[in-house]
Amino acid sequence: MRLLLIALTIALLMGCSTTEKKADAVDETEQLLIAASQKVVGDFSSELKQELLGALNEGGPANAIAVCETKAPLIAAAHSESEFLSINRITDRNRNPKNLADSTQMEVLTKMSLDSTINEQHFWADTETGRKFSYYKAIRVNALCLKCHGKTEDIDPSVREELVNSYPGDRAVEYEVGDFRGAFLVEIDWPQGEEIVQQLTTTEN
Ligand code: HEC
Repeated sequence: MRLLLIALTIALLMGCSTTEKKADAVDETEQLLIAASQKVVGDFSSELKQELLGALNEGGPANAIAVCETKAPLIAAAHSESEFLSINRITDRNRNPKNLADSTQMEVLTKMSLDSTINEQHFWADTETGRKFSYYKAIRVNALCLKCHGKTEDIDPSVREELVNSYPGDRAVEYEVGDFRGAFLVEIDWPQGEEIVQQLTTTEN
């Protein structure tokens, strides 16, 4: 019994070396941040999908490229509702070099790409002003995506031409349905992001 207690104490000390908060309080914060992140990802992805479908219907994939090129960053910025919360799309195989994961993010993406049962991951990191919470949500390819990310020979020639012109080093082709494509990444500064997190988890829209 005593040995067990000692082992438990050591485990707790090692696991909680950066925080003195009680475990259940930490869990509560984490649950709140996960809920806020899920809300932002949901809003962002449904808006992006709507824009994409609208543009595809209006003028086909060549027209819709503009949605991904200019609208995606704008929608991301609009949902990065506070200076303490941001959302982005990152990938291990990029079309736009701006979306290429850094080495820390790449480790997470690799893990998710190797195990299709992992859809979400979250992490804490210490910063100069507090802590940073990172939430990853896997993005996988569906049939719609193949119009612009599928096999090169299946991509409409006008789309291919536009992609080659806009993205000279494009690596985001040759995907198949179900493939891992990258992740939505939400980053929240804590405790500075408390207000926006509260808003996101209490409002209906
Ligand atoms: C109409 C063409 C088109 C369709 C359809 C499309 N994409 Fe893209 N996608 C693009 C373009 C163009 C970019 C580069 C955007 C940029 O410059 O930031 C891009 C970028 C991305 C990125 C960011 C990473 C990177 O490589 O730059 C992800 C993730 C992504 N697409 C996933 C998807 C998924 C998932 C689907 C299907 C639901 C999809 N795309 C459908 C054209 C398209």
